[in-house]
Amino acid sequence: MKRAAVLTSGGDAPGMNAAIRAVVRSGIDAGMEVFGVHDGYAGLIGNNMVSLARRDVGNIMQLGGTFLGSARCPEFITLEGRQKAISNLEAYGIEALVVIGGNGSQAGSLDLAVMGFPVVGIASTIDNDLEGSDVTIGVDTAINVALEAIDRLKITAASHKRAFLVEVMGRKCGYVALMAGIAGGAEIVVIPEHESTPEQVAQQLRAAYDRGKNHGLVVVAEGAVNNAHKLIEHFEADPSTTGFSLRATILGHVQRGASPSASDRMLATRLGEGAVKALLDGKTADLVGIRNNQIVTTPLQDVVGKQKPIDLRLFELAQIMAQ
Ligand code: F6P
Repeated sequence: MKRAAVLTSGGDAPGMNAAIRAVVRSGIDAGMEVFGVHDGYAGLIGNNMVSLARRDVGNIMQLGGTFLGSARCPEFITLEGRQKAISNLEAYGIEALVVIGGNGSQAGSLDLAVMGFPVVGIASTIDNDLEGSDVTIGVDTAINVALEAIDRLKITAASHKRAFLVEVMGRKCGYVALMAGIAGGAEIVVIPEHESTPEQVAQQLRAAYDRGKNHGLVVVAEGAVNNAHKLIEHFEADPSTTGFSLRATILGHVQRGASPSASDRMLATRLGEGAVKALLDGKTADLVGIRNNQIVTTPLQDVVGKQKPIDLRLFELAQIMAQ
């Protein structure tokens, strides 16, 4: 293979830059020319791509976000849009594409692959909801950002005998909430995979109060039915039930903008190299991920549209630790 392109798509995740760097440098090392596509699939359709040299991807590994840019692209959903993308790639002599992104982005990868254009995806999303990889690029950093916020909120919570609701991102997946909740010593974790009612949350907070705790920490996944807004509504209607006075913090996009952790930089570097190897091995419709510390590929059709389940034994662990 002589020419390949790389793009980042969907929500940015810390470590995407490290993954681009790894694709470019591994590709060049294997004798390829690697093009960077700006603004995700929109850049394919708009013909916005440029050949990248080793130095073009220098000094970016420590930066969050993606220097190539990312975008949501409605035109790519149409067949005409995808045909245009493929003919633009072919006009440059580009034989394969690497797509760094999460579930929606890999659906785009599969759409292109089905049309006969070889694509290899790299598992990258702070949600860690993607089948085919134990962890995805960006989730470790996002958890650490959430954890830092939780540690700080616990300090002010304890000073004022308050409870805090902290809502974290994750789309429909509770992984970030569960990990940050356990690592942050939360009293309660509310996740879509194990829903809790506002009454249950109130009871658990009350129990913590009655055990003499001077703070209450509830980590809530944004995808839970009873997310922070719902819980606040409930507690505002009946403020007396928990013992604590209550405040809420929604972390939102703060979790996406951090400098990637060492673990995310390592993962991104290994997956980037893995994607180039997969292309050279003749893979044409696969996701590169990590399983049991090994870089593996999984057919995109076994990944797209699925949500990786979380280990609910960890939910039990969170409950035991909160006692
Ligand atoms: O998929 C990554 C993610 O950050 C989710 O956790 C979140 O629900 C969503 O993207 C937010 O999307 P946007 O940046 O388009 O608001």
